Amino acid sequence: MASYLQIADDEKGHELDLFCVPKHYEEDLDRVIIPHGLIMDRTERLARDIIRDMGGHHIVALCVLKGGYKFFADLLDYIKSLNQNSNTSLPLTVDFIRLKSYCNDQSTNSVKVIGGDELSSLTGKNVLIVEDIVETGRTMQTLLALLAQYNPKMVKVVSLLVKRTPKSSGYRPDYIGFEVPDAFLVGYALDYNEYFRDLSHICVLNEQAKEKYRV
Ligand code: IMP
Ligand code: MG
Repeated sequence: MASYLQIADDEKGHELDLFCVPKHYEEDLDRVIIPHGLIMDRTERLARDIIRDMGGHHIVALCVLKGGYKFFADLLDYIKSLNQNSNTSLPLTVDFIRLKSYCNDQSTNSVKVIGGDELSSLTGKNVLIVEDIVETGRTMQTLLALLAQYNPKMVKVVSLLVKRTPKSSGYRPDYIGFEVPDAFLVGYALDYNEYFRDLSHICVLNEQAKEKYRV
C-alpha cells in the first residue's frame, strides 16, 4: 500500500496572512492547507520512491492536463536531478493527455478526453500517469481502461492528492503525496472553473468564492 502524508479532517491549516497569496484571491480562500514548500518536499520523496521501483526501465511520464501540470513539472525535475546523481537511472520521455470531468465543484459522470497525442504511441511502454487529485477515482479508472486498449507494458499512477470521501470508488493510485479532507481545494494548478491555477499553495476555497466563480 502506498504511504502518504495525511492531512487530518480537523486540520486548521495556516492563516493566509502568513504567506504570499495573489491579491485577486485574498477574499476567496479560507486557509492555506498545504504550503508550496511542503508540496515540493513531498514531491522530492515521491521522485525517489518512483526511481527505486521503476529505475532502469524507460518510462513515459503522462501528464493529465490541466491540473497535473505543476506537479508533473516539479516531479520530473526531481527525477531528473536524482537521475544525474545516482547509479540507477530512469530514461524519461513525456506525453500529455487532457481530461475534463468537473463543472463547478462537482464531478460529472462523464470523463471527456479533449486533447493529447495519439495514445497508440504508448503501446509496449512503461507509463507513469501523473495526476493532481483523485476524488471518486472515476477519472483515473476511465483513463486506465482507455490506456489498456493500447497495450502498454506497465502502467503506474502517481497522484499528488487523494481525497478522503464517501464518494470514492475505492480506487487508490500506486503513489500518493497527501491524503486530504473532503473539501474543494485549489492552487498549485488545481482549479475552480479555471481560476486559482496561478496560486502556489494548496488552499481551501470558501463558499462565497464558489458562487463568485460559478458557471
Ligand atoms: P474524480 O474522477 O472524482 O476522481 O476526480 C478527479 C478530477 O476531478 C481531478 O483530476 C480534478 O481535476 C478534479 N477534482 C477533484 N477534486 C478536486 C478539488 O478539490 N479541486 C480541484 N479539482 C478537483
Ligand atoms: Mg485532474
